Amino acid sequence: AAAAALLCLSAVPSLAQSSACDPGETVIKFSFVTNATKHPKGIAAQLFADRVNKEMNGKVCVELYPNSTLYNDDQVLEAMLQGDVQMAAPSLSKFEAFTKKFRIFDLPFMFKNIAAVDEFQNSAAGQKMKGSMERRGLKGLEFWHSGMKQFSANKPLLLPSDAKGLKFRVQPSDVLVAMIQAIGGSPQPMAFSEVYGALQTGVVDGQENTWSNIYGKKFYEVQDGITETNHGVLDYLVVTSSDFWDGLPDDVRAELTKILHQVTVERNAAVTEVEAKNRQNILDAGATIRELTPVQRQAWVDAMKPVWSKFVKDVGQDNIDAAQAINA
Ligand code: LMR
Repeated sequence: AAAAALLCLSAVPSLAQSSACDPGETVIKFSFVTNATKHPKGIAAQLFADRVNKEMNGKVCVELYPNSTLYNDDQVLEAMLQGDVQMAAPSLSKFEAFTKKFRIFDLPFMFKNIAAVDEFQNSAAGQKMKGSMERRGLKGLEFWHSGMKQFSANKPLLLPSDAKGLKFRVQPSDVLVAMIQAIGGSPQPMAFSEVYGALQTGVVDGQENTWSNIYGKKFYEVQDGITETNHGVLDYLVVTSSDFWDGLPDDVRAELTKILHQVTVERNAAVTEVEAKNRQNILDAGATIRELTPVQRQAWVDAMKPVWSKFVKDVGQDNIDAAQAINA
């Protein structure tokens, strides 16, 4: 492959692919839904592709398909099991059909920041979670971070009661559905690529996401403002199929594992900076960001935290206790 990462922007990926990789190279199609240049996930994917294409030239070639050009998150895991795509990094909320263990990451106010998420994931219990889908044919390789989620809507949101009766797009996660219901809203699970249009046309009134996604997909253009709630976490699992991964020659798998781990450590350490930059980009674009007083924020905590009790069995009280100990 060429030394530079192969960024396939073509609407016809099979055509883009035919010219991208050298004959004889193992092709890794890496599909994701965000942009590739200003988003924590895209930047990490680009670095991984650059390094593999340079350091493993002749053996392996990574093709990136950003912005849902190849698959949406609701299709990519099935496509992976079919062998149509080899790597992806869906958010942990998108593994509902494969494991309930990741629900802990969706529970509102479970982690105070991304550093706490990182510490939890690096514990023995957290590392074990990467393997929770192996019997279903998926192999978790590394957790990639993004950031804390914020709420936005077509009207100002300062208290949870402001959200009453509004429709909110959520990722397809039972925890997120319950969380929106807890504030009296109507949850609408929807693919990421459809959110802008749904906000614009009023199919939904609001949404929750990171600064990087709100900026990356310009949600701020079609919302009244963004409320800095930091109420939840958006984090990813870099995933492959066990069939593909186990079928690689040992030395190739070892080198890919090493490069991916180095990229993970480097980029996870930088996500807070990327998120802060995208928060500033939103302000620079003229959008309104509302900060909450401690009393207002506590009202969101009081409204949403009761959701935990519904999911204790899925996530384990021991894991909740471990997460809370890290926050303390
Ligand atoms: C979403 O669907 O809102 C996110 O999972 C998108 C992403 O991958 O950041």
